[in-house]
Amino acid sequence: MPAAIEQFLDTRTPDAWVREACGRLPDLLHDHANCELKAASTALGFIYRYPGKAALADRMSRLAREELRHFEQVRKILKAMDVPFEHVSASRYAGRLRKAVRPREPERLLDMLIVGALIEARSCERFAALVPHLPAELAAFYSGLLASEARHFEQYLDFARRECALDDAAFDARLAELKELEATLINSPDPQFRFHSGPPV
Ligand SMILES: [Fe+2]
Ligand SMILES: [Fe+2]
Repeated sequence: MPAAIEQFLDTRTPDAWVREACGRLPDLLHDHANCELKAASTALGFIYRYPGKAALADRMSRLAREELRHFEQVRKILKAMDVPFEHVSASRYAGRLRKAVRPREPERLLDMLIVGALIEARSCERFAALVPHLPAELAAFYSGLLASEARHFEQYLDFARRECALDDAAFDARLAELKELEATLINSPDPQFRFHSGPPV
């Protein structure tokens, strides 16, 4: 796992989640496909909402394409496993993080970008936690995705720092709050198994 991500996240994925995931690979992949689609859609959302921010729009346009490509790759694996693709509702993880986003600008943009960085960092950390336990082909695929998500994490964090013109102390304080919420979601038992769920109840 990239050192920057290990340092960034407040907590590691619980072993109980990894064991659950390895026993439920079709469910994991199904939710993973949905996550990639949502990642593309979130990236497009930034372009719609902040059309005047050219650098952000350029980056998010490329990101949306990359996430859609991931979506296609995961769907192909699902198809080979005979798992039908269906839409799933938002997970507790994404739902709670989104709920923490403040409604007014510029706080909204800052929070959305920090949440994006957290989700990308956690995805990278989960891929790294899963890789040693997966069948060879899936392990190779997830190792490749891990590198992409690490890059996306850096990009989200960069934009969060430079688009919102906050001083360092204010930025760090908000980052610490959202990181703490994220760690709580990762450590508290979760009735629903998802790619970003807490340990099973
Ligand atoms: Fe992705
Ligand atoms: Fe990503």
